[in-house]
Amino acid sequence: MRPAPPQRLSPPDSSPVPQAGAGPALEVESRASLRAFNTFGLPAFAQTLVHVRGVGDLKRVVDHPSYGRAAKFILGGGSNVVLTRDVNAVVLKVEIMHRHVVEERPDAWIVEAGAGENWHEFVAWTLEQGCPGLENLALIPGTVGAAPVQNIGAYGVELKDRFESLETLDLITGRQVTLDASACRFGYRDSVFKRHLAGKSVITRVRFRLPRPWAPVLGYLELERKVAETGIARPDARTIFDWVCAIRRAKLPDPVAIGNAGSFFKNPVVSAEQCRDIIGRDPEIVHYPLPDGTVKLAAGWLIDACGWKGKTVGRAGVYERHTLVLVNRGGAHGSEVVTLARAIQESVYGRFGIRLEPEPVIV
Ligand code: EPU
Repeated sequence: MRPAPPQRLSPPDSSPVPQAGAGPALEVESRASLRAFNTFGLPAFAQTLVHVRGVGDLKRVVDHPSYGRAAKFILGGGSNVVLTRDVNAVVLKVEIMHRHVVEERPDAWIVEAGAGENWHEFVAWTLEQGCPGLENLALIPGTVGAAPVQNIGAYGVELKDRFESLETLDLITGRQVTLDASACRFGYRDSVFKRHLAGKSVITRVRFRLPRPWAPVLGYLELERKVAETGIARPDARTIFDWVCAIRRAKLPDPVAIGNAGSFFKNPVVSAEQCRDIIGRDPEIVHYPLPDGTVKLAAGWLIDACGWKGKTVGRAGVYERHTLVLVNRGGAHGSEVVTLARAIQESVYGRFGIRLEPEPVIV
């Protein structure tokens, strides 16, 4: 790896970042295989792949005579993408690494990481630093920079609940901009980066606000069960981290062993009336009333009810222990994953009249 001398930016962005401007040449690969860079393990090639190790590399891309004007595809940990074809856009593989505790305020710990840091390792590191608050989000695959893109969430906590700000680089102007939560327009597995900033702006680092005093979030059914099973009524953050890892390992496949992209579909939100109608026909449906009067349905339950658990179509399949997770049974092509996903969508629509929306980006 090339050395990346730290530099101080003016406040509020006073943390070290790899140096911008003049520096070593871009590290570029032609016709690079993306198989190892997507957690589904799907075969695809990037015509041009740039390893982005710092903000300076991004500036060099913007100023480059041919890459500057070309379409861009931003790749983090590849945990939320289904590659069905080769990528002609310039693939920017974000590998910006740094992490540090920025500030210990009376009301919060402020921590920050480069966009290329592995999310789970970062969560574990914050706990080691004595900064709890991200433990419910343990073991989510992907990078720190990808986390805000889909506002990752699990076990009662969403990224937006622990977010302070992030820094982006505009791929047209090369300008660095700091965005707060309202500018990111976080929604359920959604943000501005999945919408009008997609492919236009690269997240280079993310800053988190972890509230003090720390309070556990234990409202999720499976965590309540752990409290009952262990008799630990007041677990510390490390215990919750271990519980979340155990819960996830028990029902979600490890992408290193079985290619997958986590939940493949979002949990659909329907009106109270629509939900009553479905309950009339299927009283056991798993549903969660939301504060605004709408109801979130468990997509996993809907898919299960249609008989998909453990099924295989081509070389893609539905995971045996969780129907929301589609898996690569070995050597699958992206189109096989998409074919399976469409078949699931059709059967859920046929039985319940609900359109399931994929969570990953399909390329
Ligand atoms: N269910 C079934 N059959 C299944 C799977 C689930 O009937 O095969 C039912 C379960 O009985 C359960 C309900 O569906 O009552 C919900 O399942 P689970 O608790 O596993 O949560 P989820 O709604 O499927 C969401 C997130 C996960 C996150 C968990 C825990 C989405 C799309 N998924 O899953 O996030 O880890 O809650 O908070 O919101 C991800 O986004 O990649 C992801 C894994």
